[in-house]
Amino acid sequence: MDKITESLGQLNPHILSDKKIWSVGGGKGGVGKSLMAANTAISLAQKGHKVVAIDLDLGGANLHTCLGVGVPSKTLSDYITGKILDLNELVVPTPIPNLGLISGAQDELGMANLRNMQKNKLLAALNKLNAEYIILDLGAGTTHNTLDFFIAANKGLLVVLPEPTSIENTYRFIKSVFFRRLKVIEDFLEIQPLIQQAMNSRPQGQMFLPSDLVKKVTELNPALGQKLQTEISKFKFYLIMNQVRTPQDVEIGNSIKNVAKKYFGVDIYYIGHLEYDASVWQSIKRRKPVTIEYPNSPLVISFKKIVAKLMDGPMENYGNQKLL
Ligand SMILES: Nc1ncnc2c1ncn2[C@@H]1O[C@H](COP(=O)(O)OP(=O)(O)OP(=O)(O)O)[C@@H](O)[C@H]1O
Ligand SMILES: [Mg+2]
Repeated sequence: MDKITESLGQLNPHILSDKKIWSVGGGKGGVGKSLMAANTAISLAQKGHKVVAIDLDLGGANLHTCLGVGVPSKTLSDYITGKILDLNELVVPTPIPNLGLISGAQDELGMANLRNMQKNKLLAALNKLNAEYIILDLGAGTTHNTLDFFIAANKGLLVVLPEPTSIENTYRFIKSVFFRRLKVIEDFLEIQPLIQQAMNSRPQGQMFLPSDLVKKVTELNPALGQKLQTEISKFKFYLIMNQVRTPQDVEIGNSIKNVAKKYFGVDIYYIGHLEYDASVWQSIKRRKPVTIEYPNSPLVISFKKIVAKLMDGPMENYGNQKLL
């Protein structure tokens, strides 16, 4: 194993692992990340895969409710504080066969201030989890912790609502992920001076778009620029438009995909959309996952389609979405 792979593996455990780690993020609060994480995990488990869902919403843990589980007595806090040494001991069963849950810490202070070392230890421990699929449910925002959890996965799912605030936050989130990943890559490719030189070349007062930065680095040093581009494109974003009501809502996902490519040089796979469905809050109220309560609803059928596509190999065919 080369130095870069080994080093990146500290932050991106999937590189060293045969596990499939999918993270669910998206910048804005209340867009349906936990709903997506819970029902993705359930769909995978129903297909017979061994799945562990992990609530990494620091301070706002509620994945257990989406999965129909009461507040678990053991949470990630017990691992962070060293009370429990094996992450497997934190996995509590759910009503769904094959699906276990690691609940998030309830105490905001303990987890929100998770130090780098603790975070890396936690991410490295994912490799030892007794599971084929690991689903990470993240909190809102772009804190370093959230970004690092997001990029620790081999597939990053972005949940977006067709509303200006959610779209704005999505761009901010993509940009933050880009720069966070760039930081990791530049450390391990040892190209900080080159990045700095590229940054310094920007005209005063002008914003530097991620795509401009990579272009500039490539101009200065084509070989390293190419390596940088390769590393950047290794991380895959998968976009899901949630709560769509009209064909225009579905179309917004295509625009986000195009803008991300143009301004960030980032490829996004627009993997599908979820209809607005009033039964969601009814099922949440009853603490029963919608996939279990309404298995034949259009929403659940859409969930299953998205999961099937995510399990598939190449995603190039899933570029554009239309409301069917
Ligand atoms: N497709 C949908 N149809 C109807 N309601 C939905 C849909 N998706 C999400 N909701 C509603 O949005 C609420 C928020 O969803 P959820 O808790 O999954 O968001 P979140 O992104 O995880 O929020 P947070 O950032 O607070 O963790 C749900 O309780 C549900 O009522
Ligand atoms: Mg949530």
